[in-house]
Amino acid sequence: MPRDYGRLMAELAESYRQHSPKSAQLNERARQVLVDGGNHALRLIDPFPPRVVRASGAYIWDEDGHAILDFWQGHFGNILGHNPPEIGALLAEAFAGGSGLQTGFTDRLQIETAEILCRQTGAERARFTTSGSLATMYAILLARAFTGRNLVMKVSGGWHGAQPWGLKGVSYEPGQGFNHLDSQGLPPALADELLLTRYNDTQMLTDQFRQFGDRLACFIVEPFIGSGGSIPAKREYLRAARQLTARYGTVLILDEVISGFRFRAGDMGALYGVVPDLATFGKIMGGGMPVTAVAGRADILNLSGRAGGSKVKFSGGTYSGHPASLLAAKAMMTYLAEHEQEVYTQLGELGAKARLASEGAFAAEGIYSRCTGHSDELLLGSSMVHLHFPYRPDQPLDCPEDVFDPARCDPTLSEHVLRLALLQEDVHTVHGLGSLSCAHTEADLTRLAEACRCVARRIKPYLALPSV
Ligand SMILES: Cc1ncc(COP(=O)(O)O)c(C=O)c1O
Repeated sequence: MPRDYGRLMAELAESYRQHSPKSAQLNERARQVLVDGGNHALRLIDPFPPRVVRASGAYIWDEDGHAILDFWQGHFGNILGHNPPEIGALLAEAFAGGSGLQTGFTDRLQIETAEILCRQTGAERARFTTSGSLATMYAILLARAFTGRNLVMKVSGGWHGAQPWGLKGVSYEPGQGFNHLDSQGLPPALADELLLTRYNDTQMLTDQFRQFGDRLACFIVEPFIGSGGSIPAKREYLRAARQLTARYGTVLILDEVISGFRFRAGDMGALYGVVPDLATFGKIMGGGMPVTAVAGRADILNLSGRAGGSKVKFSGGTYSGHPASLLAAKAMMTYLAEHEQEVYTQLGELGAKARLASEGAFAAEGIYSRCTGHSDELLLGSSMVHLHFPYRPDQPLDCPEDVFDPARCDPTLSEHVLRLALLQEDVHTVHGLGSLSCAHTEADLTRLAEACRCVARRIKPYLALPSV
């Protein structure tokens, strides 16, 4: 049975109000004009988020004057830290020179940025858009048009953004697990058109392909499932996904919005020797700006262009290929390609130390925890860290069911209690911690360990409470 954190959360909320009175006050004002006081649910920490005034490197500063060590880093996008001077200076120079905000044209920058993206990911063609949600939606439209089929398969616990074919099986609900639509207002047919499969379960995937394969337009899967628990795909699983999709004429879409440029200067699929039909990129590739892409096979992407009869309306977007965004994207991808070895080695080492530091801090207080985020496939290591609290040391952490089923792990502790408690130690986290950037230092990890130790001491008495 899940533990009852009601009293602890109330106490944490009260001490947080005292810790951050200005943010608390601003939240009241925000709620008068913005739904729940903001624009993105994950940012709206309960009872209120810190209101940020500036950010640099590994830190953010809030209205109350706290310097907060940040492990979310721009929704995992800011791999060089917040506001890296390399990108900021470039944008400032462009704006000062009267360029960057014109939109509605084509230019050399679009070509150069697409050339880098295709070179680093092995894609034949790319098209830019402005959000990961749009990218995955377009990729699925392309797949459905290409195959002439309707069924879409996704992973339970996988998040592909807020677009119709992403909104089933995202959140874990008691009694239902992941098997439900996550939003109202969707076309009713979606419930049947979207099939769910368990991450890293090759047998289930094989069985489902046997049953539905010749009706499946696409299988969309993250090679590293992000909000589903920071879990890398197993090699045999991703390879089986490639083989099965090829055998049944199904389009394999790797959603690399999180994993792209996170573990190497390009796609993660390459680390597995898996070439998808389409891939989606965002976050890191944009250098902090809103730019994403669908990239992959020319014959599929061309369905949105003249050569393919313009059958798929992946053809608009006021801000698609926006010059300021592409300037940042080109600079970021170029930087990562030129500094690949040093950047990813540094990130891998920091990630390993952050996982050890956080697990060690809880262990020192007698609380068992285990981090996901790494696997042997990630040759230069991993900068992703998700601290879980399994009830048993032998609990596998291979799929979202493992980490979100409250009978196996304590997701409330990992996702909510930890976050609010760490915030009061001036450490900002998401999904059981988050990610490292090149701006994080050893001293930051010492600070993380101390903060985790304080939190462990604070929550320990509540873990011993009888379950409700
Ligand atoms: C794997 C994945 N795909 C798609 C998206 C949606 O991207 P966006 O928030 O830019 O719409 C996200 C966002 O976190 C993501 O993690």
